[in-house]
Amino acid sequence: METAPGTLADFLTLGWDRLIRGVGDRHAAARHPTLATVDSAGAPTQRTVVLRGAVRAEARIEVHTDAASAKVAHLTRDPRVAFHVWDDKANLQLRLTAHAEILVGTLDQWERLPEAARRVYGGHPLPGSPVPEAEAFQPSPYPDRYTVLQCHLDTMELLHLGRDLHRRAVFARASGWSGQWIAP
Ligand SMILES: Cc1cc2nc3c(=O)[nH]c(=O)nc-3n(C[C@H](O)[C@H](O)[C@H](O)COP(=O)(O)O)c2cc1C
Repeated sequence: METAPGTLADFLTLGWDRLIRGVGDRHAAARHPTLATVDSAGAPTQRTVVLRGAVRAEARIEVHTDAASAKVAHLTRDPRVAFHVWDDKANLQLRLTAHAEILVGTLDQWERLPEAARRVYGGHPLPGSPVPEAEAFQPSPYPDRYTVLQCHLDTMELLHLGRDLHRRAVFARASGWSGQWIAP
């Protein structure tokens, strides 16, 4: 996609369109954002996740995880998160900041997961524990560890690498998502 965003409103719509595409299209760049949290020592740490939901009207995105993972411990202490996506087809970088709300996955959500997906929520020993060898891990579906991270966006920063110009803008919940162009 080479169309440069003409207005701030177009630019924000492009950002949301590319995010929403990630939820439904496993080949879209936004399918696999990088999620950053702050660890107990105050250091940034990041990992790849699957984008499970994106709702523009509520400015929120959704990620699913294991309650026993380190990221949930980080978010219990400090709910601030950041997401990054480089969407090469749209020549667009997305940088999001948000506050994560940690929710227990519902039975209804659990029952809609394919068997293979259920196996990643659970298992022994707990995620991040040392194991004597790679095979010394027993995956097992455990609904009580199925966790939904509802991430309420605070800002969305977009950088579009156009042929003529690089265009960059930041949008914030605090200013009603009206947006501000900034120098790239
Ligand atoms: C392509 C890909 C998709 C992933 N999707 C998720 C996901 O949706 N949720 C998740 O918790 N971990 C996911 N992971 C694993 C995380 O990157 C990470 O290794 C794991 O969650 C442990 O992270 P933590 O110790 O920081 O909590 C994914 C990894 C890859 C490579």
